[in-house]
Amino acid sequence: MTSEQESQFARENAALSRLLRRALAHAAPSLPNDRPLSILDLACGPCREAETLIHSLREVSGSSSDIRLVGADIRRAELDEAASRARAAGLAHTEFLAADCSKLDHALASSENFDLTFLRHQNFWNDPAAWLRIFEHGLSRLNDDGLLVITSYFDREHALAVRALERAGAELVVSARNDDSIDLSTHGKSVDRHLAVFRRRPARRP
Ligand SMILES: C[S@@+](CC[C@H](N)C(=O)[O-])C[C@H]1O[C@@H](n2cnc3c(N)ncnc32)[C@H](O)[C@@H]1O
Repeated sequence: MTSEQESQFARENAALSRLLRRALAHAAPSLPNDRPLSILDLACGPCREAETLIHSLREVSGSSSDIRLVGADIRRAELDEAASRARAAGLAHTEFLAADCSKLDHALASSENFDLTFLRHQNFWNDPAAWLRIFEHGLSRLNDDGLLVITSYFDREHALAVRALERAGAELVVSARNDDSIDLSTHGKSVDRHLAVFRRRPARRP
């Protein structure tokens, strides 16, 4: 990675951090601050956002404990980069799993739930059926007060993913456009262009 690319990632993460803090301010007060929090980053790729996620969640939740982050992706090379980035940043409580996130139960203990599940640049329109299963796993792994957050590269893909998540039992808390999103070379594509926060829809009373 060149130093120019690394400074671009740092700018992207700074914008993500501002967006996350703004969006989570609507929802994070419901998160507990009396026990360590945990994050599940699905399809995390190189997980360049690990430190940003941990710091943002700590700030909005007021938690002073260590925050654990588990990242999962189907591609090992990406996970190797994620692990080496986490080591370089001194993030002790991180773990990266090689897993098909549409079949996540093979990789995680059945009792393991999280306070935040995060999907950066979800890729719903590439394979709607697989990504719907990934979204369902993300929702099913939430603690009662947990939040699921997605970001999207494209307007249309974001709208499709929001609709799919709502059909899968998620309640939209807030969806925000990233004013500082950095444009990419494909028309209409930009980094963390949109971010949406969901919680699990409460079960209807009989
Ligand atoms: C658009 S990239 C986003 C990567 C990363 N979240 C980011 O923003 O840089 C989509 C990621 O999904 C991963 N992926 C696709 N299908 C997957 C699956 N079934 N299980 C786990 N990861 C998957 C790919 O390996 C890739 O890292």
